[in-house]
Amino acid sequence: MSKVTVVGAGNVGATCADVLAYREIAEEIVLIDIKEGVAEGKALDIFQKAPINQYDSRTVGSTNDYSKTANSDVVVITSGLPRKPGMTRDDLIETNAGIVKSVTENVVKHSPNAIIIVVSNPLDVMTYQAHLTSGLNRNKVIGMAGILDTARYRAFLAEELNVSPKEIQAILMGGHGDTMVPLPRYTTVAGIPVTELVAKDKLDAIIERTKFGGGELVKLMGTSAWYAPGSAAAQMVEAILKNQRRVFPVCIKLDGEYGIDDCYLGVPVILGKNGVEKVIELDLNAEEKALLETSRGHVKEVMNVLDNLGK
Ligand code: NAI
Ligand code: 2OP
Repeated sequence: MSKVTVVGAGNVGATCADVLAYREIAEEIVLIDIKEGVAEGKALDIFQKAPINQYDSRTVGSTNDYSKTANSDVVVITSGLPRKPGMTRDDLIETNAGIVKSVTENVVKHSPNAIIIVVSNPLDVMTYQAHLTSGLNRNKVIGMAGILDTARYRAFLAEELNVSPKEIQAILMGGHGDTMVPLPRYTTVAGIPVTELVAKDKLDAIIERTKFGGGELVKLMGTSAWYAPGSAAAQMVEAILKNQRRVFPVCIKLDGEYGIDDCYLGVPVILGKNGVEKVIELDLNAEEKALLETSRGHVKEVMNVLDNLGK
């Protein structure tokens, strides 16, 4: 039986649990939060939707009782503060590092074989925190950001070209922040290079909008997004549970790939039953390498902040 735990029953966590249930990605989904009754309530609400939306997945809620999460195959960590207007993702570091650390300790105690997908921000550094705390191999502690950032880029391109979003294939690398690196050279519309269909100034504007895509939503809603982030995390769970070997940009600790050591960055990987099955190394040109280096420098700075907190 496949079992997934989603830690944090807030906007992103509840959305992820809902997608996992209605798409029958897992047989049992445990939603856990520290706020009394919230996870139980949302799990019950999702289960009461099953007769309407016709699915068999079971959802279970828990207030901080990790025994209910025991032997999960995959755990998605969404617990932590979201951004408010005027905040960067990095402003969340101290509070969220403490939360991710204590959650990870509980997760590995009850599900030592689980693959952990981190969503909490600042994403790359919270993945570092979970990796440090869990002591698991790097392929089993990974972060969700690239699927979301790429989806924003793909959606903007679909809008510009007035085509189905499904036709846009793209890859994006780097940290989950304003230094992320969309890659037009690896972007196609049903196989047609995007540069043949979209003028350079329009493409540049879409790339800029993508980099600040999270901030655009925070400004509109007063908190950060959840539909696309929750769905993106669920898509990673699906690739793992069904051993789909899908190619996604995923945050992982780099061990020499792209000439980078000891830094957590989004890179294209093959995602399957063991988590990251392989990191794909693209042959980046000089400009792309420079952008990735800037992103690495930024993430490394925030990793150093975490190190100095002594967590
Ligand atoms: P939210 O505030 O709606 O939900 C967070 C939940 O975490 C709350 O229900 C809270 O009670 C719970 N929580 C706090 N401490 C906990 C603990 N120790 N154990 C269990 N639960 C705990 O926030 P939202 O919008 O769901 O965002 C969650 C996180 O995901 C934020 O850090 C946000 O910045 C991040 N995020 C990351 C994205 C990405 O692409 N990686 C995209 C969107 C959000
Ligand atoms: C997002 O990109 C804030 O990381 C969050 O929507």
